[in-house]
Amino acid sequence: MAINGLTPREIVKELDKYIIGQDDAKRAVAVALRNRSRRQNVPEELREEVAPKNIIMIGPTGVGKTEIARRLAKLAQSPFSKVEATKFTEVGYVGRDVESMIRDLTGMAVNMVRSEEMQKVEDKAAKAAEDRILDLLLPKPKSRRKKEEDSALAEVSLDIEVIEKERRETTREKLRKQFQEGKLDHRTVEIEVKESGMPNVEVFAAAGLEGFDLNFSEIFSNLIPPKVNRRKVKVSEARQILAQEEAHKMIDMEKVTQMAIKKVEESGIIFLDEIDKITGAEGSTGPDVSREGVQRDILPIVEGSTVATRYGHVRTDHILFIAAGTFHHSKPSDLIPELQGRFPIRVELSSLTEKDFKRILTEPASALIKQYVALLATEGIEVTFFSDAIDEMAKIAWEVNEGTENIGARRLHTILERVMEEISFNAPEEGGKITIDVAYVRQRLEKVAKDEDLSRYIL
Ligand SMILES: Nc1ncnc2c1ncn2[C@@H]1O[C@H](COP(=O)(O)OP(=O)(O)OP(=O)(O)O)[C@@H](O)[C@H]1O
Ligand SMILES: [Mg+2]
Repeated sequence: MAINGLTPREIVKELDKYIIGQDDAKRAVAVALRNRSRRQNVPEELREEVAPKNIIMIGPTGVGKTEIARRLAKLAQSPFSKVEATKFTEVGYVGRDVESMIRDLTGMAVNMVRSEEMQKVEDKAAKAAEDRILDLLLPKPKSRRKKEEDSALAEVSLDIEVIEKERRETTREKLRKQFQEGKLDHRTVEIEVKESGMPNVEVFAAAGLEGFDLNFSEIFSNLIPPKVNRRKVKVSEARQILAQEEAHKMIDMEKVTQMAIKKVEESGIIFLDEIDKITGAEGSTGPDVSREGVQRDILPIVEGSTVATRYGHVRTDHILFIAAGTFHHSKPSDLIPELQGRFPIRVELSSLTEKDFKRILTEPASALIKQYVALLATEGIEVTFFSDAIDEMAKIAWEVNEGTENIGARRLHTILERVMEEISFNAPEEGGKITIDVAYVRQRLEKVAKDEDLSRYIL
């Protein structure tokens, strides 16, 4: 689905499939996204001037902040990366360059575009792989007679050659048919597999060098020619390995990088989590890099600058930033003014209610209950949750959140895991039909939920 065609209303409707409530936040991100596509149609002189409407999402933990951003990116088919603002304050990362978030995003986009491009050549690559495997199964004969032209035998041998060639062709086509039907999958062939010259270790650049984005393993792997290993593999495996290899050969990496950079610049989304933790509000403790310093570091990227990445220069002007934080101990107004100005949209997400919990358990396309039903179905178990059982779980989740710590919808994970533990354990031996009613939920949870200390550990 082309997101650019979606109206804000339609975007919200799509998000509704995954996230319960939080309508304001959904509206805000939908508008931000729509503005981005609107910008594409603004007259050129003005287009460059239109800044993205970055967003700050304010809300308690586990109410869907990250989920909304992630779903939005998926919907928009945008490169997306999530980064904790606090990461840049960590000891040992003094002045750790914030540009790395753009590099990560670009890397992400390159992977995205590359796999899209590879998909486009998938059929062709599979065909090429097929031919290579047939060559392996039925090696070409060495041309035996070369210099026989002048002999009387030449004519005869030429005839033989023609016949042999035809015979080979028919055999090859027979083999091809068998291959396509998967009848050769169990046979083994020897293929050459290129292994990169260096083991794939990340080499940590010295802090000062980080800006150059040196990737030592890449440099070395270019110096050391790739080691070619001969490996015996099953035809089924060779089919995959060779198809990958062929696809890689067919795509134009130059084009891929260019497309990826464009994608990042025009539709990239960066989720900047824990933004509230880099405000100066709460007296900074320990040897953290000054939080305000981190804000100043982030500023140019949000305002728009050019970042050098291994794939080329990336302009950050139109990347959409979605910041999030609980803002328990600070307010967005504690951010430095320049940064505040760059995040004009503020939305609050509300705490989830018992009713929300019930809906979260059942309604979203990826709802937890659906997940458990599907998981157990793989073992031949048909689980049914009674409605009152779901009510009870929602109620207990809410109570535990109130009584101990409010971790939002994350509580549902622990609750459901606890309810399903025994069934999950016994599943492989039992099979059949299982119904989960309110009594069962109580039996599994009551003792723990009633005891605050116990639930602190278990739920
Ligand atoms: N409103 C909601 N609708 C559906 N699922 C939700 C909702 N809120 C949270 N969840 C689920 O709860 C989990 C945690 O949500 P999420 O990661 O979005 O929390 P968050 O608001 O980003 O919290 P934090 O501040 O701790 O990062 C996810 O698995 C998500 O699917
Ligand atoms: Mg989050």
